[in-house]
Amino acid sequence: MQKILFGLLIFGFNYCAASTVTINQNANTFLVTAATGAFGECICNSIAEKGYDLIITGRNQKKLDELQKRLKSQHPLVSVQSLIIDFSDTLTIHLAAKKLERKSISGIVLIGPRPVLTKDGIPTKEEWSQVFLETFINPLEVISAFSPFIKENASIIVISGNSSKNYLPGYPNTNVIRLAWSGEIKNLAHYFGKRKIRVNAISPGPILTQFHIDRIKEKAFSNNISFEEQAAKNASSIPLGAYGKPDDVANLVLFLLSSKSAHLNGINIVLDGGESLAY
Ligand SMILES: NC(=O)c1ccc[n+]([C@@H]2O[C@H](COP(=O)([O-])OP(=O)(O)OC[C@H]3O[C@@H](n4cnc5c(N)ncnc54)[C@H](OP(=O)(O)O)[C@@H]3O)[C@@H](O)[C@H]2O)c1
Repeated sequence: MQKILFGLLIFGFNYCAASTVTINQNANTFLVTAATGAFGECICNSIAEKGYDLIITGRNQKKLDELQKRLKSQHPLVSVQSLIIDFSDTLTIHLAAKKLERKSISGIVLIGPRPVLTKDGIPTKEEWSQVFLETFINPLEVISAFSPFIKENASIIVISGNSSKNYLPGYPNTNVIRLAWSGEIKNLAHYFGKRKIRVNAISPGPILTQFHIDRIKEKAFSNNISFEEQAAKNASSIPLGAYGKPDDVANLVLFLLSSKSAHLNGINIVLDGGESLAY
């Protein structure tokens, strides 16, 4: 019985509950990048749940079409425009900005690809160039290209990672990308402050998405223990003793998009169940 309950907790991660936070009533269209990923879809669902329109972007047209269909079937009154943005190709960003139907955006949720760099030693300059381009330079280019369409009082949220706060032995080198965003949101907060646009980052710790489920499964197999035992072992350094859920990320996103966070600006919020050791 205990095992079934644990299983339900673990595999219930896909469920995105409705939130009670009300987004600025004058605001109605939100852009979400890398929308086809685990965070992206959960965040899109939470925004659509509130009745707001969406611009979803991704690199794969088929996945975008499927996501658009799912969103439209669950939220028939919501308008969803899909645009191709591939972070490895700057041109797609400028083409997407040209194809924008609604010229007024109330918020951007900037999700970048997972940075992947060698964990062993110093990455080559080619690796650095590629990863910086895809996870920092081009995501920033999205903000720049869509900047003319961002409304006053809008909110920009960058999804980062908790190695922005702590050195994590499992995430060497990619912490540099996370730190780059911690610096950049301060620049952006000053730059956009004149237009009353806020810029904040969310740095999640491990969230139980397919990526982590696969890692837990692999480790459980090599340690010859159950998935549940391995998940509990991995989460033992988290004071709350559990992985976060995509819903936890989406709820914080809704709060940061809403006027309830009107005076929060230029901060990097760690969302990790208390795992961070940083003050
Ligand atoms: N899950 C966690 O526990 C966790 C914790 C901290 C930080 N994060 C960070 O949060 C972000 C999203 O995580 P996730 O769990 O949602 O990851 P995910 O499910 O693996 O989704 C990744 C998304 O990035 C897209 N993508 C990859 N390369 C791209 C490119 N060149 N251009 C455009 N889109 C690209 C993927 O598109 P396709 O669908 O076409 O492949 C997919 O939509 C990542 O940066 C991740 O490192 C995640």
